[in-house]
Amino acid sequence: MNLLVTGGAGLIGSNVVHYTLRHRPQCRITVLDAMTYAGSQASLAAAGNRVELVVGRIEDPALVDRLVAASDVVVHFAAESHNDNSISNPLPFVTTNVVGTFTLLEAVRKHKKRLHHVSTDEVFGDLELDDPERFRETTPYNPSSPYSATKAGSDLLVKAWVRTFKVNATISNCSNNYGPYQHIEKFIPRQITNVLGGRKPRLYGEGKNVRDWIHVDDHNAAVWAILERGQPGGYYMIGADGEQNNKAVISLILELMGKPADWYDHVNDRPGHDLRYAIDAAKIRRELGWTPRYTTFRDGLAATIAWYRDNTAWWQPLKEAVEAKYAKQGQ
Ligand code: NAD
Ligand code: TYD
Repeated sequence: MNLLVTGGAGLIGSNVVHYTLRHRPQCRITVLDAMTYAGSQASLAAAGNRVELVVGRIEDPALVDRLVAASDVVVHFAAESHNDNSISNPLPFVTTNVVGTFTLLEAVRKHKKRLHHVSTDEVFGDLELDDPERFRETTPYNPSSPYSATKAGSDLLVKAWVRTFKVNATISNCSNNYGPYQHIEKFIPRQITNVLGGRKPRLYGEGKNVRDWIHVDDHNAAVWAILERGQPGGYYMIGADGEQNNKAVISLILELMGKPADWYDHVNDRPGHDLRYAIDAAKIRRELGWTPRYTTFRDGLAATIAWYRDNTAWWQPLKEAVEAKYAKQGQ
């Protein structure tokens, strides 16, 4: 199988490349990535020459047409993915997430190729802390931020292309990922690298906001289950029952890294900050037999801390600029 992975130099895309080389060694992989600030060649270094990296944008119709024509299956991870950036500068989110997904859809339609579109649970908005409901495949879309609105827009384009043009596509909406190769602007690696560098972790607001954490390898195992056994046109929620509030996550990081429990700062909250995300993944468990392997958040987090400790060369050059940007926002 010739697999085209868009966004393969980012967190989930680079991990899917490594996952695929380990578990589906017969696949030939091409990565299409614009190498924005979020993409890293170093994240693909371990793949050596077993992967072809094409540097380019998913909104480039000629390039996308050529790469899609040469592939059997497209897995679409490329996106602008960070909420805080979408608040300070939304335009790249519209361009990449909406126009980029449209460009890919037109190419897979023309060449009759299979597409899997990777999306987020953030398209559904947020839940109250005590709401017994969790997000499911039937939950209405209600995005809050420019990031989630543009991801919702991309999902709706895929749904329209499936129905109107009979494109062979599936969609998954996953909860918050953690693991190796995650950009240090994101919550968990920001706090780990703060502690490694002698800085206190930074908690937005009171830290009551809840995220439903999943290890990136469990996400990618689910993506592969959908590629191999998913219903054409099907939607799947992906989550590992990993709800934690942000304060609890910081406490666990501090404990695992040998720091006092109160060694963190409260900083400015995010405007429009979604309160809680929670996924009901019953459908993918039942229909595709997927189950997460990292069921103990503490163990997954400890392994992630060890990865950042062992891979300072991967993240240290970015740290000062990331913190300077946050400092301007009082975060
Ligand atoms: P990331 O920011 O780590 O990586 C995104 C990659 O896309 C980068 O390598 C970047 O260079 C590339 N890219 C950006 N714009 C591009 C463009 N115009 N053309 C080509 N490449 C471009 O993101 P991630 O966390 O790996 O997320 C991957 C996908 O998974 C996204 O679609 C995101 O919405 C979705 N998702 C992420 C999470 C999460 O917790 N990280 C959860 C659910 C879904
Ligand atoms: P983030 O990793 O940005 O993911 P998302 O907003 O897409 O869920 O943030 C996860 C949670 O952590 C979110 O509630 C915001 C919060 N947060 C902090 O408290 N401190 C931080 O330094 C960052 C980056 C995020």
